[in-house]
Amino acid sequence: MHLFDKDGLKMPNHEKRIKEEKINELIFSSEKLIEQKQFQKARELLNFILTELDEKSTDAMNNIAAIEILEENYNQALEILNKIVKYDPDNEIALNNIFYVKSLVNDQEKKVFKRGTDSLLEKYDLPKNYQDLIGNGDFIKVGEDFLKHFIKIGNLKENYSVLDVGCGLGRMALPLSEYLNEEGKYTGFDIVKREIEWCKKIIEPRRKNFNFFHADVFNFHYNPTGKTRPCFYKFPLESNQFDFVILTSVFTHMLSFEVDNYLSEISRVLKPGKRCFITFFLINDESLQHISNGDSAVKFEFKINEFRLNDHKDPEAAVAFEESFIRELSEKKNLKVVDPIYYGQWCGRENFYDYQDIIIADKNS
Ligand SMILES: C[S@@+](CC[C@H](N)C(=O)[O-])C[C@H]1O[C@@H](n2cnc3c(N)ncnc32)[C@H](O)[C@@H]1O
Repeated sequence: MHLFDKDGLKMPNHEKRIKEEKINELIFSSEKLIEQKQFQKARELLNFILTELDEKSTDAMNNIAAIEILEENYNQALEILNKIVKYDPDNEIALNNIFYVKSLVNDQEKKVFKRGTDSLLEKYDLPKNYQDLIGNGDFIKVGEDFLKHFIKIGNLKENYSVLDVGCGLGRMALPLSEYLNEEGKYTGFDIVKREIEWCKKIIEPRRKNFNFFHADVFNFHYNPTGKTRPCFYKFPLESNQFDFVILTSVFTHMLSFEVDNYLSEISRVLKPGKRCFITFFLINDESLQHISNGDSAVKFEFKINEFRLNDHKDPEAAVAFEESFIRELSEKKNLKVVDPIYYGQWCGRENFYDYQDIIIADKNS
C-alpha cells in the first residue's frame, strides 16, 4: 500500500516530466522548421502539441502565431495571441507580438502619419519653447512608449473612452489616435491655450472621436494668468463616463491641495471599476537614499509637509510627493492603488520602468 502510494505520487510527476520533455523537443523542432521556412511541417508539429499533449501550451501557440505573422495572416495571429494573453496575461512574447502585429497592420498609415506629424510640427509653428512645455526627449518615441505602457500595465483597450488631463501638445493623443478604434473616444484638456489650439487644428480633424478643450486654470509655471485655481476647478465633464484617465507628467507640476481636488474629479468622471494611470515623483526610503547619495538630477530640497519642491522660486517646475500620502489620498477618493507601483529612473534607480514613477489606480465598483 505504502509502495503503491509512493508510486502513485511519483507516476504523474514522471509522466508530466516526459510530456514536458516531448513538448520542448517538438517546440525546438518546430523552431528549426520555421527558420527553414517549412511552415506547414512546423504547424503540424505545433498542432500535435495542442491536440495531443497540452491544449494550453503557450509556447506552441506563440510559434503558430509567429508563422501566421511570417505568412502575413495578421488577423489570425492576433486571434491566437489574444488567446494566449487570456491564459497568461503576463506572457511577454505574446504582448510584444500583439503590439508588433498592430504596428505592422498600421505600418503604411503610421509611416505617413509620422512623417506628417514631423512636418506638421514645423509647418504649424509649434511653440518655440515646446520642449519647456512638455520636457525633453523624442516627442514621438515618448508617446509610443507610453502607449505600450497603457496597454501592457494599464490594460487599455481599443474601444475605451480616454480622458487625458494636462494633454499638452498631444504627445499621448497622437499614438492613441492610431490605437483607439471607432467605438473608442478621446478627450484631452490643458491649461495652455496655444497647446490646445495646436491639438484642435492638427489632431481633431483627423479623428472624429477626438476632442480637446482649454481650461483657464492657474499654474505659476504654465499659466500664470489663469482665472480658476486648480484646487477649485471642476472638470466640465459628466460623471462616470471614462474607462481610462491618464496624467503623464502633470501631477509632477501641481501642489498637494490641487492634486487632492483633481483626484476627486478623476474619481468622479471614471466609470466604477475603471482606472487611472498617473505619473509622479514619489518620495520613499529608496528615492530618498538615492537623492542623499547624489544620484538624482532633481534634488527636491524644499520640503513642505507631504510634498517637496525642486525650486522654491518656480514651485510647479517639479513637485514630488510622499508615496504614503498619495496612497492615503487615493483611498479617500475611492481609488484603489494597484500594486506594484512602477518606479522610475528619475532619482538614479538602476532598475526602473520609465523615467517617472507610475501609479495605476482603480475606482471602486
Ligand atoms: C510636462 S507637460 C506634460 C504634457 C503631456 N501630459 C505630455 O505627457 O506630453 C505638463 C502639462 O501639465 C499641464 N498642467 C499643469 N497644471 C495643470 C492643471 N491644473 N490642469 C491641467 N493641466 C495642467 C501643463 O499645461 C502642461 O501641458
